[in-house]
Amino acid sequence: MRQAVPGFAGLLDHDALFELACDPDVESRWIRYAADTPGTDWKVEHGPQKRARLRGKRRPWTVLVQGLNLHLAAADALLHRFDFIPQARLDDLMVSYAVDGGGVGPHFDNYDVFLLQGAGRRRWQIADQTDRSLVEGAPLRILQNFQPTEELLLEPGDMLYLPPHWAHNGIAVGECTTYSIGFRSPTAQELGAEFLAWLQERLCLAGIYADPDLELQDNSAEIGPRMIDQIERMLAGIRWSRQDVAEFVGDYLTEPKPHVFFHPPEPAMKPKAFARAVARAGYALDSRTQLLFSEAGFHLNGEAIELPAALRETIAELAHRRRLPPTEAGPALTEMLYQWYCDGFGAPA
Ligand code: SIN
Ligand code: CO
Repeated sequence: MRQAVPGFAGLLDHDALFELACDPDVESRWIRYAADTPGTDWKVEHGPQKRARLRGKRRPWTVLVQGLNLHLAAADALLHRFDFIPQARLDDLMVSYAVDGGGVGPHFDNYDVFLLQGAGRRRWQIADQTDRSLVEGAPLRILQNFQPTEELLLEPGDMLYLPPHWAHNGIAVGECTTYSIGFRSPTAQELGAEFLAWLQERLCLAGIYADPDLELQDNSAEIGPRMIDQIERMLAGIRWSRQDVAEFVGDYLTEPKPHVFFHPPEPAMKPKAFARAVARAGYALDSRTQLLFSEAGFHLNGEAIELPAALRETIAELAHRRRLPPTEAGPALTEMLYQWYCDGFGAPA
């Protein structure tokens, strides 16, 4: 999509990007390719990065910063320009910086991705190939037999959309930055494991194992079939409903990632000053806040929230737009927004 975001040339300069890559609270990867050292040609270093590493000149390298939307309001706003797709399917905004020739190598992703060119230019080679065999022993997923069928040179503001499993290789032409809008595509295994952990916390089974009619066994080491029968009956009490699934999905999809921390305001405004600020400027969710709703109600940062019916429409609007316009909010709404403000989940805009 040529000029998908007209005038776009990236959201932050190299220095600001490097600063994030060196921050211990930010997820980053540094990747270098050295064609002349087979076997160790790909090298990956996880963050926090060392500043010296980001000055290398000898070989092409790239640094990738994950979750830019969590750290930069403009990145959160860019991610939400993609809310023609449900927020529950959007994962995060990643930014990569590469020196001339740098990239992460030919690979495929298991999810859809939009690749929006920031500063500079990048040449993308792509292929819808079925051979997905990977280089063994490499520290990142590199396709063994990449056979590109198309090449595209992206300029600032151009965007490439790739469906899941399309092979791609992006090579920086001069230094450049690329913004990836990634999608959430949890595996059934991941959903199953997370759901069982969720269910475990809510499990409430009645009864205690007992065997008043126990008979003498020939071999005391045997776990007899009647014992297994009884335990099977006890475990049959583990059940779940659609309501449980809907509640789990809301909690799971709004759960902040493990390295996300909220920063309560210091010092916090008093409630009256807060209400005046919201009336004057509106209210914006913090970039890290996840607010979604479903048939199971509203979920905020991993927890279900109780909402009076009268507030549902306003909070649904806040969830969609991530902000409320200047509002003379009633006491119930003000109290709720103030509580979220004190938790660092949102603030007057
Ligand atoms: C990059 O920005 O260099 C990599 C993005 C991708 O290939 O998914
Ligand atoms: Co990719």
